[in-house]
Amino acid sequence: MTAPGTSPDHRPSRPPGGTVPPYTGLAARRPRHAPVPLPLDPDAVELGGPVFGSADLGPYDDDLTRQHTGEPLGQRITLHGRVTDRRGRPVRGQLVEVWQANAAGRYAHPADRNPAPLDPHFTGAGRCLTDAEGRYRFTTVRPGPYPVPGPGDWWRPAHVHFSLFGTDFTQRLVTQMYFAGDPLLGQDAILAAVPDPAARRRLLAVPDPAEGCAFRWDVVLDGPYATWREGER
Ligand SMILES: [Fe+2]
Repeated sequence: MTAPGTSPDHRPSRPPGGTVPPYTGLAARRPRHAPVPLPLDPDAVELGGPVFGSADLGPYDDDLTRQHTGEPLGQRITLHGRVTDRRGRPVRGQLVEVWQANAAGRYAHPADRNPAPLDPHFTGAGRCLTDAEGRYRFTTVRPGPYPVPGPGDWWRPAHVHFSLFGTDFTQRLVTQMYFAGDPLLGQDAILAAVPDPAARRRLLAVPDPAEGCAFRWDVVLDGPYATWREGER
């Protein structure tokens, strides 16, 4: 006999209700070693980040729906936005990388044990460079939610993982983007681990009907309104 909402292999079969469980994964994501002190002289520190050019990108790196011979399942969406610094200046020519689950909530990765089906026509990884105005744009499918096994089985809302290199190593940002209005947002222990409500709102992409079935999400790489990055509290 299994608990309500739990399949015979003890995986949750439907999103549970109730309160948000505490997220216990942050400790495992933090560095295990003490920080290495750097010289106080900024000239003595190499801050320059890696530089990428258009030649480093493939023709369909920014269109996750065209990376295979067939059509992936799921709702086609556009994800776009601007990458700026604290003063609103565009961050140009920067590499933006994304990775996500498929429409069924399954990653094309051997570590994903979710029994949801893989999609042979969807890898779920893309990248592009920001343009002269700091804009990025991806065509993809809306990712599905997926269950997180363990104490208090819970479900992650639809989300897309982002990595942005910025112009120097102090700006490297790895974070997650969510969809405004997703009913599972209130159950996500990872989003709930961001203590500032305003910072949580800055992780939400908003519908952009002017662009069709599109969502806009802007990123600020530094300053007081910087987009929250993984590992922060
Ligand atoms: Fe994820």
